[in-house]
Amino acid sequence: MYSQKQDYLSSNPLLIQAANNAVKKRIELEKFDACLMARRAGLAPDDWQADLLRSNARQLLLLCSRQSGKSTCSSILAIHQAIYKPDSLILLLSPSLRQSQELFRKLQDFYNALESANLPQAVEESSLRMELSNGSRIIALPGKESTIRGFSGVSLLIIDEASRVEDALYQSVRPMLAVSGGRIVLLSTPFGKRGFFHSEWMDGQDWQKVKITADQCPRIDKDWLERERAMIGDWWFSQEYQCEFVETNDSFFNYADIHSAISGEVKPLMFT
Ligand SMILES: Nc1ncnc2c1ncn2[C@@H]1O[C@H](COP(=O)(O)OP(=O)(O)O)[C@@H](O)[C@H]1O
Ligand SMILES: [Mg+2]
Repeated sequence: MYSQKQDYLSSNPLLIQAANNAVKKRIELEKFDACLMARRAGLAPDDWQADLLRSNARQLLLLCSRQSGKSTCSSILAIHQAIYKPDSLILLLSPSLRQSQELFRKLQDFYNALESANLPQAVEESSLRMELSNGSRIIALPGKESTIRGFSGVSLLIIDEASRVEDALYQSVRPMLAVSGGRIVLLSTPFGKRGFFHSEWMDGQDWQKVKITADQCPRIDKDWLERERAMIGDWWFSQEYQCEFVETNDSFFNYADIHSAISGEVKPLMFT
């Protein structure tokens, strides 16, 4: 009986048209609100993520704890721009190609979760690059000055783990963005009082700056955090979870361990 009713509903052309119109209407609204798109892809943004997804700022600076959701949020920003601003060129950078690829994978997952015939389709797709039928391109790259030099007309540049990306890269992308009028998003945990991420956070003008410590993240358990502090010590804890630009640590082995954990391209230090 129930399935007969279902069959009737799903074969009724008026109902099908009404459902299609509702999807179209929602997609039109999503153009102006990336949070709606995020929800359709299965993600309920935290308040700070929602603010960022609705922001019009051309320059965003996110100083956030590990696991707070900064990569997730920026991957939504990127796929939203690709879908709703035709012909966008979006570059994803981070200290290593592996990390950029991870960010790209998050973005692909969101795009796949949206699965709608009413959205621009992927006409070319690999593990590092996606081109949509509206002319938008998203490309994941390692954060090296030499890899970015060949690009122009960049509409959105996302630099993940920006505190660990070389200054030369940043110097070369600034003029590029000035010419294209593109958007830039820098996101990172801190990494000492050095480099462009630190100086922009301290003195940069015209940035929308957001700081999210681990205790502000609803998914990070307070007891787990205390155990983590006991395990890694106050110095690392204040950098990785409390977003402090702490002075260089004198614990050399810790530095190497954590840095190699963060960048797959850093070889472990060996002593013979
Ligand atoms: N709003 C959210 N709701 C549910 N899970 C989330 C949300 N934002 C992020 N996450 C999840 O939290 C984890 C850490 O997110 P991620 O973006 O990788 O953090 P970060 O880049 O800050 O280290 C991931 O498993 C991600 O899917
Ligand atoms: Mg991340």
